[in-house]
Amino acid sequence: MREEVARTGERENRLRARIAGIGMAVGERVLTNFDLEKMVDTSDEWIVTRTGIRERRVAAPETALSDLAFSAGREALAGAGISPRELDLVVVGTVTPDMTFPATACLLAERLGANGVAAFDLSSGCTGFLYGCAVAAGMIEAGRVERALVVGGDVLSRITDWQDRSTCVLFGDGVGAAVLVAERGARGFLGFRLGSDGSGGRHLYLPAGGSRLPASAETVAQRLHYIHMNGQEVFKFAVRITEEASLGLLSDLGLTPEDVDLFVPHQANLRIVDAAVRRLGFPEEKVMVNLERYGNMSAGSIPVALYEAVGAGRLSPGDLVLMVAFGAGLSWAAAACRG
Ligand code: UT7
Repeated sequence: MREEVARTGERENRLRARIAGIGMAVGERVLTNFDLEKMVDTSDEWIVTRTGIRERRVAAPETALSDLAFSAGREALAGAGISPRELDLVVVGTVTPDMTFPATACLLAERLGANGVAAFDLSSGCTGFLYGCAVAAGMIEAGRVERALVVGGDVLSRITDWQDRSTCVLFGDGVGAAVLVAERGARGFLGFRLGSDGSGGRHLYLPAGGSRLPASAETVAQRLHYIHMNGQEVFKFAVRITEEASLGLLSDLGLTPEDVDLFVPHQANLRIVDAAVRRLGFPEEKVMVNLERYGNMSAGSIPVALYEAVGAGRLSPGDLVLMVAFGAGLSWAAAACRG
């Protein structure tokens, strides 16, 4: 297993990417566990016990990723007090773009009023937002970019097999967005740890529709355009990698779990969060959890959780936030940020 490690250290006066504004948008329809009981052979009791999820959001049929990204992006820009024309970069982390191409980031940039900006999509599954932040922060720290919009989100309902009870109870639709600005000082992203293990790619994937298995009447009939997942394998990987990536990044930065003020883990399953939190020793009040209301929103999970933590007043200036995600790839990403 190879791991790419980005070290930045916590020196006072270096150029950093600071989150200046944040926004979110989720699917408008609330789908409860009781609704799912009527669709597949499941129960509220099974879902709550095994996952912690009580309800999730589903986007209206006419809503695409860029529609949610537009709302979240506009809110993030307003929060940052930045006009779309001032952006240098738009990155969208997603596995459910509006179309395979062009990149949703291009469509979003134009709609926001940032036409002409550098824009691209990034496909790393549930780690999409943190991968996007790492790329944008790297460009900001290198002095190539001053202001970037990073969007993470998915409309997983479009690739969910609503006849498969082992997956359809888990997911929801949502997007988060953050405006990153160049700033000298102690605030902003301190470092990232990104990694992948393609040998686990077969545990979480969408079999058809790419160049390996192009779309055909047969692939549709065989339900190959939906998420396929080996839940137990992903579960074991998730618990291990959340701990490893967290401790690895903190040690890169000369920090320990005691230095963390808020832990924002990927919101996939409460049992994964609990197991990782036990291993890392975080007290309950330092852990952000909102998956009971949203399920797993893939690349949208971390930015929406961060947004709600800020909204709930759980972060004070100077606080250290540790965010960790895992997902398809298999991939993982940890980020430390001083607010
Ligand atoms: O962003 C990354 C995305 N993926 C993840 O994070 C997924 C990680 N994995 C998980 O969260 C868990 O593995 C699941 C929630 C997917 C499954 O929980 P589990 O405790 O690993 O259950 P299991 O797969 O071992 O299944 C246990 C039983 C099985 O029945 P039998 O064979 O014991 O009779 C399943 O058929 O539960 C059954 N089952 C269900 N029963 C009621 C599976 N799904 C359901 C369901 N309702 N929705």
